[in-house]
Amino acid sequence: MVSSDEKEERKPPARSMTIMVLLLAHGYRRADGPGAVALQRGSARHPAANPPQPALSLDPTQVAAGKALFARQDCINCHRVGGKGGGDLGPDLSGTGTRNPDLDWQIRHLKEPSSVEEGSTMPSYKKLSEADLRALAIYMLSLK
Ligand code: HEC
Repeated sequence: MVSSDEKEERKPPARSMTIMVLLLAHGYRRADGPGAVALQRGSARHPAANPPQPALSLDPTQVAAGKALFARQDCINCHRVGGKGGGDLGPDLSGTGTRNPDLDWQIRHLKEPSSVEEGSTMPSYKKLSEADLRALAIYMLSLK
């Protein structure tokens, strides 16, 4: 006859097996496969791993120039800011400065969205001048 105490004893090994399998699966995902890209992207965006640019990059003149460009380009066809205006083919951009606090990331994303966001359908803005791209990116960083 199996006592209830014996039954209880069988549970811990079963549980640690599950944990081991989960850890292994996680390990494999980190090593390679599609998950690896997502993880790298995640850490590149992590504020601690990639601290925001110094405050001087959020020069109010640049923010204003970027905001004007944003209205003049067709960004607004796909994006809203704070739920206002525009379309919804792309995400609402409020908070993008917190989600992607790196100036270089923002510029690279504008030049070639799919180079930093796998499979992105956002059009490339590499036709814009470096100064315009920078102003737009700085405006993006100001959207906390
Ligand atoms: C045809 C629609 C379209 C247009 C036009 C467009 N975007 Fe996007 N945008 C997207 C889509 C879709 C995504 C989501 C995929 C990605 O992150 O690339 C996105 C993502 C973004 C992101 C990242 C958002 C986040 O926080 O994850 C930023 C920043 C951005 N767009 C800025 C801009 C700016 C600035 C312009 C204009 C110069 C613009 N977009 C024009 C469709 C568009």
